Amino acid sequence: MEENKYDLIVIGGGPGGYSAAISAAKEGLSVLLFEGGSMGGTCLNEGCIPTKYLLDKAAALEKVRALTEKEIFKEPGLFSFQKIQRGREKVIKKLTDGVRYLLKVNKVTVIHGFASLKEVGKAECGGMLYEAKDIIIATGSESVNIPVAGTEYTIGSAQALALESVPKRLAVIGGGVIGMELASAYCSYGSEVTVLEAMPSLFPTEDKEMISYMEKELTKRGVRILTGRKVKVIEKAGLSRRVFFEGAKPEEIYADAVVLAAGRKPSYKGIDAEKLGLALTEKKEIQVDEHMQTNIPHIYAIGDVIGGYQLAHAAYAEGEAAVSHILGKDRESGLSVMPRCIYTMPAYAAAGLTETKAKEQGTETVKGKFFYSGNGMALAEGAEGFIQVLMEKDTKTTVGIQIVGEGAPELLSFAALAVKNRMTFDEWRQFIVAHPSLSEMIKEAALDCFGMSVHGAVR
Ligand code: NAI
Repeated sequence: MEENKYDLIVIGGGPGGYSAAISAAKEGLSVLLFEGGSMGGTCLNEGCIPTKYLLDKAAALEKVRALTEKEIFKEPGLFSFQKIQRGREKVIKKLTDGVRYLLKVNKVTVIHGFASLKEVGKAECGGMLYEAKDIIIATGSESVNIPVAGTEYTIGSAQALALESVPKRLAVIGGGVIGMELASAYCSYGSEVTVLEAMPSLFPTEDKEMISYMEKELTKRGVRILTGRKVKVIEKAGLSRRVFFEGAKPEEIYADAVVLAAGRKPSYKGIDAEKLGLALTEKKEIQVDEHMQTNIPHIYAIGDVIGGYQLAHAAYAEGEAAVSHILGKDRESGLSVMPRCIYTMPAYAAAGLTETKAKEQGTETVKGKFFYSGNGMALAEGAEGFIQVLMEKDTKTTVGIQIVGEGAPELLSFAALAVKNRMTFDEWRQFIVAHPSLSEMIKEAALDCFGMSVHGAVR
């Protein structure tokens, strides 16, 4: 075997892996990145980005429909789903080419192959041995199957994103983020969508009132959401599928396509955790400390393979934390305030504590609220929803913000900064936000915490 030596080997070219490789290279390390599939991982190829492409066109369609209903536009939106799909492919190609270009200009060596991690500092690929002082495992996650008969008649989220035509009836198993975002998009494209969720409610760890608002709005748009329903069997029924499920009683539905979106689990391709002696959590994720170091020195793990928030931006931050530690820099990981977004229509976005979480940890909070109906920009755009700001009662500092409505994920960045810096009530009062803008509502909700919102309803 030939030997090749680097400072750092990164296994996996998803958002966590490629960004860690680039950051380490910028810091002067020689870096080798292995990617056996498509550069950019799940996020770029069959997750976040393609979903957002479909959701963006779906939102445009809904806007045209709303304006047509008001007789402002004369024609409802007629669209080509095939053209939408070609557009999705183009965006993915542009982004993955962009990542490959960034790796190249930052002098990261890329090997297109699945590596296997042999021991500390050693990885093998295609019969060659590669060495590095440090190794980052960023192998991501894969969809979980469910233990019922007939899952071969379902499609995964990746296939659901790449359909060539809109299914007349779409069943979605799992009302998590993937399931609900697909349900929201396909409903706009004209599918009759039914979501089957085993838990009694959607997104139980997020703000109840907001999730219930989102659920009602999605239902109004035509998404049938059945919670407390566990799927039992899926059968082929001619060209369609028959899904048997159970809540209080046994029920069944027919669908032209059934998407299985029941969660994701760590992916261990090329990583024999047991043989390596890697400590795992109860959920079989790689166990890491705050520096993303595993129980084996010089082996780090980041992204979906360590569980927690299975989010691309969590993986970016975890990669930064690992690279900092490798360089001997003791830097705060910045993982404490994790922005969370659900890109349905309406969307939900949150940073920091929810009211329930604050109560659980004994933080006494006050809540300020502001409705889109009181904001000029929202009215001009026809946007609806509401915003909540939570402040710690004693210190008058911001500990959580939740948004449900149009623009929520974009508004969240500014909100997350306020939570991270624990912005005080006085700072909110002195802070100037552009008018007209949706962002004004966050300030108004913050001022409402202590009864000082100017444009909010008097309470
Ligand atoms: P998830 O764990 O969020 O949701 C899966 C749902 O399926 C659960 O609510 C579960 O109760 C339900 N389920 C499981 N078995 C079932 C059965 N037999 N019958 C009915 N329901 C059943 O997983 P999901 O949606 O697959 O997403 C995976 C990860 O990807 C999540 O951690 C999510 O954060 C991440 N993601 C994030 C996005 C974002 O930030 N916008 C977008 C897409 C995914």
